[in-house]
Amino acid sequence: MRVRIFPGITRKIYKLPIYQSYLIRKISRDYKKCLNNHQLMHTFKQVGNYIRDRKLLLGRDCYSLSVAHSVLQAILCGYKSLTLVELGVGEGAGLRELSLIAKKYSSLFEVQIDVIGFDNASGLPKPDGYKDHPEIWSMGEFLLPNFKKLEQELSENTTLIIGDVKKTIPDFCKLYQIKNDVIGFVSVDLDYYSSTKDALNLLQMTADKYLPALPIYVDDTNNLISYSSYSGERLAIEEFNEENIYVKIEEKANFDINNFFIGHFLNHPIRTGTLKPVYPLTIFKI
Ligand SMILES: C[S@@+](CC[C@H](N)C(=O)[O-])C[C@H]1O[C@@H](n2cnc3c(N)ncnc32)[C@H](O)[C@@H]1O
Repeated sequence: MRVRIFPGITRKIYKLPIYQSYLIRKISRDYKKCLNNHQLMHTFKQVGNYIRDRKLLLGRDCYSLSVAHSVLQAILCGYKSLTLVELGVGEGAGLRELSLIAKKYSSLFEVQIDVIGFDNASGLPKPDGYKDHPEIWSMGEFLLPNFKKLEQELSENTTLIIGDVKKTIPDFCKLYQIKNDVIGFVSVDLDYYSSTKDALNLLQMTADKYLPALPIYVDDTNNLISYSSYSGERLAIEEFNEENIYVKIEEKANFDINNFFIGHFLNHPIRTGTLKPVYPLTIFKI
């Protein structure tokens, strides 16, 4: 007789805080023993396996796995502080998860990680023609009901920047350009071509303000039948690539993470060879 109760019980065990802290302690011990890029890659691969097997519970995989690639890259490059960005916060579910992921990875891998969410707090603007997919979205959808309340709930590593990205992104870049941190991950979830086109100006600072191969999650690219390269977030990316010689955004489907892209900063000092990373940047699929 097949006993079908066991998978359910194992899943319950994985959810126990005691099991989660056991895994965290194990990863931390393994990490502290790492002496080279191969051992680091192995430890992060282990983290990826725990996440994919639903043993390590760190919120949505597309965030926890993408950010694992960011943190490993930061360690190999010698960066001590990263900023993770969510473009489009909605009711805050994604930002809350990103904030917790940042906290966990920060404490595990001794990299300071901050999170910034951008949203207008008034829901989707009026769609501007077919490029904004009015067949799917409507004005006012995903309204963040009370951003002050969300701000209070978020932990100290997370900031919310309210306003249209057309204005808030250039303002943010002016200030960020003179900070010591680097952008380590971007989630693009503004739904519209027009909003994404404006928001991608986030990638226009000097190349040294980013990880050399920046993990980017682009939400609205694959799952619905009307998504294409001729509208929506994909069109904004296509145009970005046409307009920029040294920064290119490309999907990395073989890494088995939903909607996973990389921002390639081809003129990054590490990618031109002018700056040597601490360890070679050999990062395989985590
Ligand atoms: C689908 S929701 C984001 C959901 C969130 N990422 C999550 O996973 O929980 C899209 C958000 O983008 C925001 N948005 C769209 N266009 C914008 C713009 N031009 N400026 C600022 N926010 C915008 C909307 O207000 C909405 O809250």
